[in-house]
Amino acid sequence: MTNSQRSSTPTVSHPLLTLPADLDPQRLPRHVAVIMDGNGRWAQQRHLPRVVGHQQGVETLKELLRCCQDWGIPHLTCYAFSTENWGRPGLEVEFLLTLFERVLRQELHALIQEQVRIEFVGQLQALPQALQAQIQEAVARTRHHQRVWLTVATNYGGRQEIVHACQALAQQVQRGELTPEEIDETRFAQQLYTSTSPDPDLLIRTSGEMRLSNFLLWQIAYAELYVTETLWPDFNRESFYQALVAFQQRQRRFGRL
Ligand code: FPP
Repeated sequence: MTNSQRSSTPTVSHPLLTLPADLDPQRLPRHVAVIMDGNGRWAQQRHLPRVVGHQQGVETLKELLRCCQDWGIPHLTCYAFSTENWGRPGLEVEFLLTLFERVLRQELHALIQEQVRIEFVGQLQALPQALQAQIQEAVARTRHHQRVWLTVATNYGGRQEIVHACQALAQQVQRGELTPEEIDETRFAQQLYTSTSPDPDLLIRTSGEMRLSNFLLWQIAYAELYVTETLWPDFNRESFYQALVAFQQRQRRFGRL
């Protein structure tokens, strides 16, 4: 992922390595969130095990992160594992959780070199110990970085996050630190896992499903939604560029005229 590694690959002449001229750098989203859907179908179309799709999906995520670095988009959040994903076959769940751990271990050096700050949101205490340890190390070793913030939603559920925030506020009220009337949107948002990031401006979902799937329910109140038929492993620089073109064609009114 370093510049020297990148310049040794033939993709260096790719026309989209710098921000395409028809995109306005002043109107880029500050925060892009992605629902990385379609890994299983991508693999099945090729008569491969579903898990190969997840492996390929990691490559797509790395490329998207590079795009954010190259084009100046400071926040990227991805939905890696939902609270509902525990309902998948045990072997696939095990593969996914092991994959996260391995990718974190293998990519940590590159993340540090590229000044990426990585964070995790979700019920992390329910994850395997080895993965939790790898997460803690990656978060600790990248926490001072500023260039791009990568947030990985792992064992994440939007409703669960909202309930968790309600419980935290109720406890403050019970302790006499807060009155119910003092609870407003700002205080509420401060209790969410994402309290340190701006809300996403753009939510991308691949593979054509028109659903939010319990992802960032509070935070995407005013995000522009972009759904593409492209399966996640096939989503690339060109696809991201198309999503940004669509984003810049939207009029964001936030409920105003
Ligand atoms: C959805 O596709 C994808 C997932 C549940 C996993 C996505 C995870 C990654 C790409 C790895 C990210 C890794 C790190 C370390 C952040 P699906 O299986 O639902 O596809 P389908 O709808 O075609 O079945």
